[in-house]
Amino acid sequence: MKEFDIKELIESRFGENYDLHEKYMNRTLATVLKTIGFDKHYKSAKGAYIYDADGTPYLDFLTGYGVFGMGRNHPVIAKAVKDAIDMDLPNMVQLDCALLSGLLAERIVKLLDNRCTAVFFCNSGTEANEGAIKFARAHTKRNRILSMSSGYHGLTYGSLSITKSPHFQDGYGQMLPGAGNVPHYDIGALEAELKKGDVAGFIFEPVQGKGVNYPLDDYFPKAQELCRKYGTLFIADEVQTGFGRTGKWFGYQHWNLDPDIVTMAKALSGGYVPCAAFVTTREIHQSSFSSLDRCVVHSTTFGRNNLAMVCGLATISVLENENMVEKSATMGKLLLDKLDALKEKHSFIKEVRGKGMVLAIEFQEPKGIGQKLAWKSLKLANDALFTQMVVTSMIDKHHILTQVASHGLDAVKILPPFIVTEAEIDKFVNALDDVLENAANVTGPLWKFGTRLLKASMNNKQNR
Ligand SMILES: Cc1ncc(COP(=O)(O)O)c(C=O)c1O
Repeated sequence: MKEFDIKELIESRFGENYDLHEKYMNRTLATVLKTIGFDKHYKSAKGAYIYDADGTPYLDFLTGYGVFGMGRNHPVIAKAVKDAIDMDLPNMVQLDCALLSGLLAERIVKLLDNRCTAVFFCNSGTEANEGAIKFARAHTKRNRILSMSSGYHGLTYGSLSITKSPHFQDGYGQMLPGAGNVPHYDIGALEAELKKGDVAGFIFEPVQGKGVNYPLDDYFPKAQELCRKYGTLFIADEVQTGFGRTGKWFGYQHWNLDPDIVTMAKALSGGYVPCAAFVTTREIHQSSFSSLDRCVVHSTTFGRNNLAMVCGLATISVLENENMVEKSATMGKLLLDKLDALKEKHSFIKEVRGKGMVLAIEFQEPKGIGQKLAWKSLKLANDALFTQMVVTSMIDKHHILTQVASHGLDAVKILPPFIVTEAEIDKFVNALDDVLENAANVTGPLWKFGTRLLKASMNNKQNR
């Protein structure tokens, strides 16, 4: 029998990607990607670029939803993974205290530089948040978990319950009892809930992923103070913001906060092996692992696996050695300033906001009469269609990957890699400038594409 050969397999089946997904996987996604012109056949990736079969480079301002701050297929991380495989390490012995997980825990705790010193490793952002919910309940012996409106915490039941979004929740039955929500950055509303004395934890993203929102005032320090006052744990969801994305190692450090629990994932994987964690104070940790017979009361098979730990260790080392957190801050500021300058030229731009390398460009009704009309009719049909037109033009014409920020929000979100050069920043800004210039022509290709998109979406609804 022929030995398994992954290179040969990929070569021989390349190009069947969409057929396979239509047949065996999420065919709705395949249809959407085709409709919006994202149906490329990518073959390789390096640094800030993904390459298709013809070798065309696509500038990656999506970074796998914020995984690849360090760039794709970073040689140091790749080497660490290969070295670890070559060492034939004893992986997942389970009833064992392995070295690598201990080492990664030590690194993370040093970076957090707060009271959180006890680490639990898991496999995804949502799972880290599930753990935070459980541990907050166990520690406080309270039931309720509060989150903020327009936040996003993942799609398994606990995390979904605190992701207050009809788009994600509808159709999935009853949510977790005790999951509640407060309007974002409304300190009075938060206190009114905390006062009831039954809230185990208040979870927040330092910079919200969905709309790239963050408070401009002292909301976070006040929220922390109130949580302490009413005995509620203050939980930072750093799944996206962690490891340099906002220009600091962790987003909460912008406000000198001291959370009781910090959750993290994405970048920790190095882009190779899922790796996530939630870190608590020792006291909170021990509330769950409270006796010898409860030593694995919270556990997951793959959580501390060696390759994930290697990825975490190598990634932190790369971020540190290559000053990538500083780069995220400086290049992010440069990008923000250059994008902000486009506002003068394009009345479509309402606001550019962000911190480090997480930014949003929000659109609004433009000034010209024809454009106003076109905008209004598009809005009536679909809230974020204009943004989709922009995102599609960016990939189609300029080979730059971006995304629509959130359902119902007319904003492009970008999560560039921290390694981008000023030339690449200019490429992005010039591309957006060009796309918005074209958008001013309401009979031009951009609006024609919008109409096509609208028709495709209406047809799809009818055919369901
Ligand atoms: C802030 C935040 N929390 C949680 C999650 C869920 O992470 P995962 O997709 O790894 O489950 C995400 C994912 O985008 C996120 O941005």
